[in-house]
Amino acid sequence: MYAMIMEATGGPEVLRYAEIATPVPQPGEVLIKVAYAGVNPADWKNRQGLLAGFRPYVFPCIIGFDAAGVVAALGEGVTGFAVGDRVFTPSNHGQGGQGSYAEYVLASEDRVAPIPAGLDFAQAAALPVAALTAWQGLFDRGGLTAGQTALIHGGAGGLGSFAVQFARWAGARVAATCSTANVDYLTSLGVERVIDYRREDIAAAVQDWAPGGLDYLMDAVGVSTLPDGLDLVRAGGTFVSIPTLTDDGDIPAAAAAAAGKGVERVFSTMDDVGCSATLRKIAALLVSGDLVLPPLREFALRDAAEAHRVIQQGHNRGKTVLKVADL
Ligand SMILES: NC(=O)c1ccc[n+]([C@@H]2O[C@H](COP(=O)([O-])OP(=O)(O)OC[C@H]3O[C@@H](n4cnc5c(N)ncnc54)[C@H](OP(=O)(O)O)[C@@H]3O)[C@@H](O)[C@H]2O)c1
Repeated sequence: MYAMIMEATGGPEVLRYAEIATPVPQPGEVLIKVAYAGVNPADWKNRQGLLAGFRPYVFPCIIGFDAAGVVAALGEGVTGFAVGDRVFTPSNHGQGGQGSYAEYVLASEDRVAPIPAGLDFAQAAALPVAALTAWQGLFDRGGLTAGQTALIHGGAGGLGSFAVQFARWAGARVAATCSTANVDYLTSLGVERVIDYRREDIAAAVQDWAPGGLDYLMDAVGVSTLPDGLDLVRAGGTFVSIPTLTDDGDIPAAAAAAAGKGVERVFSTMDDVGCSATLRKIAALLVSGDLVLPPLREFALRDAAEAHRVIQQGHNRGKTVLKVADL
């Protein structure tokens, strides 16, 4: 197969379109012929070597978590899928497998979900990491409930676009931060209070919108952009940070400060083990119209380096996908 391979970590130039052995599914795994790979900030961080703490890099290495395509082969014991099924997945890359910037990728069966009718491959490839991270940070780890006030810091990116909509769907009152260029976008997603961080003081806006303090805060940008986040949350509320690997500050000190104020402090990294059930719920929300897909920016697989240069600037709106094949 062809893939974007890396022989070393580094800048976008280390990504090279080349031939490499097609993977073979082991027991419990599904081999997927990829139509689209989804792009996440984790990909450029991975390319630069920042994920070394999670697992060793073995070269040649293929990066990329998200994929959508058709089932090409089944490992022993897989019963929930058949060859030809349209599926999407965060793949086995998070567990050390080769990634999705390739014509074929492997995923354990419990990380694969069917693409419902009405959703195309590009749309499905945009979902896994961003939507799962948002869901887990809001509900599984954040315990957000109807009627609560929730601020999503970084509402216009891949993660934030899902988070603001999930929070609203759950019945929360939602505020979100973004730059001036994204104010209309977040308003269109139904955000009650859009805070333009370039023009407004976030603390003053929150004080005005939720005078007793927020019930829930998600930081999806980084601690340096919201250094006084804890002050925005009421005692008994919840403050979730999505670890960035680049701007996480002193996590033990942040946890201690939150404990002193009686705030539940959560650092929520995506967990994709057994994520099929959540992916199915998220896809169902798209079909029912409770969730709209953020705008997609599309590149060819061969142009992954260019996609990285854009997303690495940190002001992406919505999601970015790589077209791998016409399926
Ligand atoms: N640990 C995990 O499991 C995990 C999982 C997923 C994502 N993440 C991390 O979460 C972060 C967000 O991911 P993503 O997919 O949403 O990234 P993304 O699609 O690149 O979006 C980044 C967003 O941040 C916004 N932003 C930049 N500076 C800001 C500021 N000062 N205040 C408010 N918003 C600001 C940008 O909006 P404007 O252009 O409007 O500024 C942009 O929309 C990344 O660091 C990613 O690595 C971690």
